[in-house]
Amino acid sequence: MKVLLAFAGLLAVAAANPPVSTGKVVCYYDSNSYVRESQARMLPNDLDPALSFCNYAVYGYAGIQADTYKMVPLNENLDVDRTHANYRTITNFKTKYPGLKVLLSVGGDVDIEDSQKYNLLLESPTAITAFVNSAVLLAEQHGFDGIDLAWQFAKTKPKKIRSTWGSIWHGIKKTFGTTPVDEKESEHREGFTALVRQLKQALSVKPNNLLSITVLPNVNASIYYDVPSIINLVDIVNIAAYDYYTPERNPKEADYTAPIYAPQNRNPLLNADAAVNYWLQSGAPSNKLVLAISSVARTWKLDAESEIAGVPPLHADGPGEAGPYTKVEGKLSYPEVCLKLINPAHQKGMAPHLRKVTDPSKRFGTYAFRLPDDNGEGGLWVSYEDPDTAGQKAAYVKSKNLGGVSIMDLSMDDFRGTCTGDKYPILRAAKYRL
Ligand SMILES: *[C@@H]1O[C@H](CO)[C@@H](O)[C@H](O)[C@H]1NC(C)=O
Repeated sequence: MKVLLAFAGLLAVAAANPPVSTGKVVCYYDSNSYVRESQARMLPNDLDPALSFCNYAVYGYAGIQADTYKMVPLNENLDVDRTHANYRTITNFKTKYPGLKVLLSVGGDVDIEDSQKYNLLLESPTAITAFVNSAVLLAEQHGFDGIDLAWQFAKTKPKKIRSTWGSIWHGIKKTFGTTPVDEKESEHREGFTALVRQLKQALSVKPNNLLSITVLPNVNASIYYDVPSIINLVDIVNIAAYDYYTPERNPKEADYTAPIYAPQNRNPLLNADAAVNYWLQSGAPSNKLVLAISSVARTWKLDAESEIAGVPPLHADGPGEAGPYTKVEGKLSYPEVCLKLINPAHQKGMAPHLRKVTDPSKRFGTYAFRLPDDNGEGGLWVSYEDPDTAGQKAAYVKSKNLGGVSIMDLSMDDFRGTCTGDKYPILRAAKYRL
């Protein structure tokens, strides 16, 4: 009898909690890739070879209309117009991949006009309601299975590198006082909890609708995410634990952009393990947590003052030059990096290739660099994720029993197979190690 009761108890527990699910792969699609040029231009059909590896696809990104607080497409003509209708093109992939769930994400650091609207919205119950109603409608109209909130909270201040002049200026600023990053932190935290609650309720009209949240880089989760209040309402927490160091935030110092653990003498909070532990220690079930793997490399210029060993952290002189295809300073796609690692036949006129330095400890990541020439030109330092380090992150996720990984995003992975012939090598390597 006792055994029977215990068995019944087990069944009850099993019924109350959804079955533990690990090994998930969440694939972000940045729709801005549609308007990139030549090799970097990705069309929705280029997603096809990736989707058999993905449990979830997340369309990035929708935005918020500043005056109405409604969730809206950021690119009407690409996202929803009859000629392109990319929302529908992506959700239609569910016919070919019946297990695939497709979410629509809002924010993602690309909705930059009137960026204060993300704070103001959380201060107003009417705005929250307007947002929630429009979000559910937008998802419904285009066949999405739910919403991902990649909320644009205020970011932490980057570390300062002080030259002598810098310290004098710092002294002056101190006397006048500095404004905190976000004066209404607790109000925004409470507003976000209210928003999650309402959105969950509104999405529940369809039993299979999903709600996920993405914690964007350099957002301090312990300030904005009230884990005990929201964790039961969300299906996935995607932790974007990368861009701890970027050439925009840290122009004078290059360092590992997405270490799993803290390298020596660094801030112990700025790494994936610390970010994951915040959620676990606050009571989040491990299988809801997804760790992001960024396919975007971060690059800095090296100059004559940079230490010649190349070991981070090292002096840098701002963002490295833009890539040939993605054309943004300080950023390269994975295929742009892999092409810089080889120099076929040492062609004249081509910049010398980068030297790749792997990390035998598998804790911090890979970098590659090239020192400046005698004229002080051409120096470059790149922190990036490759198939090996993506695999290491997946192995970390598995060892911690987390829900899975996300790839942020597919368009910056090698979707054409330029590096080795295999399409989506970062995605594949991560999937393989889960
Ligand atoms: C995040 O905020 C907490 C206070 O809530 C603070 O102790 C911690 O240092 C902050 N983390 C970072 C990385 O700034």
